[in-house]
Amino acid sequence: MFNCRVCNHQIEPFMDFGPMPIANGFLKKEEFAEEYFFRMEVAFCDHCGAFQLVEQPDAQRMFHENYAFFSSLSKHMQIHFKAYADFVMERFFAGRKDPFVVELGSNDGIMLRNFKEAGYRHLGVEPSENVADVARAQGIQTISEFFNLELAERLVAEYGHADAVICANVMCHIPDINNVAAGMAKLLKPDGVLMFEDPYLGDMIAKTSYDQIYDEHVYIFSATSVSWAFGQHGLELIDVLPQVTHGGSMRYVFAPKGSHAISPNVAALLEKERAQGLHKAETYEQFRRNCEASRTALFGLLERLHQEGKRVVGYGATSKSTTVLNYCGIRPEHIEFISDTTPIKQGKYSPGVHIPVRPYEEFKQNPPDYALLFAWNHAVEIFEKEGAFTADGGKWITFVPEVRVLE
Ligand code: SAH
Ligand code: TMP
Ligand code: ZN
Repeated sequence: MFNCRVCNHQIEPFMDFGPMPIANGFLKKEEFAEEYFFRMEVAFCDHCGAFQLVEQPDAQRMFHENYAFFSSLSKHMQIHFKAYADFVMERFFAGRKDPFVVELGSNDGIMLRNFKEAGYRHLGVEPSENVADVARAQGIQTISEFFNLELAERLVAEYGHADAVICANVMCHIPDINNVAAGMAKLLKPDGVLMFEDPYLGDMIAKTSYDQIYDEHVYIFSATSVSWAFGQHGLELIDVLPQVTHGGSMRYVFAPKGSHAISPNVAALLEKERAQGLHKAETYEQFRRNCEASRTALFGLLERLHQEGKRVVGYGATSKSTTVLNYCGIRPEHIEFISDTTPIKQGKYSPGVHIPVRPYEEFKQNPPDYALLFAWNHAVEIFEKEGAFTADGGKWITFVPEVRVLE
């Protein structure tokens, strides 16, 4: 038994992924012996709708001066965040006097740079120093702290209230959502807006994309669960906008109760979530069975290719791949190396299973028979630039929504 982080009801985990390392914890050989593992179990709360990890490692183990995820490495994500910034400026800043925007988890400045260029007052709150330094070097104002209620109070004292608080792929990382929501209620102007986008539960269930579940993602949100959680703190869901990023995300827009008109999109999505069964325990039982079937299929395929002497290389040392590799029991003999463009990951080993991570140039110079597409959420961008691999007979293996070799 475990108490729901959001509403405190007693709930039971429904799935155990076993011991898991830090998803972005790429490591050197000499660090293998001391690698940290936690038990990754997930639970669904049928009272408030929150889908959550039972245990999450301490934030300082995941977000620090050697954080391995640099947002701006993806061109498509740069375009995405420009559009997100335009959405905020056009829909919420028009007519406001000298608006102030705060972003949580602003990383290397991928979104805030657009506000800076447009001349808006802005502040990034980014605890991982190394990625924050990249933003600061570009003149994007950034402080390296973890957001919480106490910080919200300090920000108000120092900078005043915010017209908009924006986030992407960070709200679902913070376990004490009640504390954050209380902080938002403090930080926002009475007519301010809060918005965040994160991987969407409806997509994860529909696609069996269980690799969304890893240490950082303490929640996989739905409109049902976020409106419950933030509603407790005087914030109301005023709009929802589906996104294709990260394999299916949702942008949620909140405002102090009664301050903004509510889009009909909200009721429509809540209704759709009921129709999909996101409120029912059986849905998660079925999800667990789907994950087990996916694991059997992927492991079986990699075993067969290994026996046939085929060369398989992983494409993208994503945080998500840590869940897939560890949950499926994949070993270094199945995958020669994982190709990745991030310098801080190269020359290291993948968390838990210790497959070498090599620079992308090695993939180009010595293409394998099969590329296992760990970065499946970037498939469009990747297929655009890997035409030559396919033309030369290279094959792609994907596992979302099902395990298959793309012909
Ligand atoms: N917004 C970027 C980065 C997402 S990665 C994007 O979508 O690409 C998540 C980021 O949130 C990391 O850079 C991490 O350091 C930061 N983070 C984690 N906990 C946080 C907290 N409590 N407050 C603010 N940022 C946090
Ligand atoms: P993400 O799925 O968390 O966004 O991480 C993507 C990872 O994949 C990141 O480490 C960079 C890597 N990557 C490549 O190596 N090549 C690519 O073309 C893309 C888009 C990503
Ligand atoms: Zn709950």
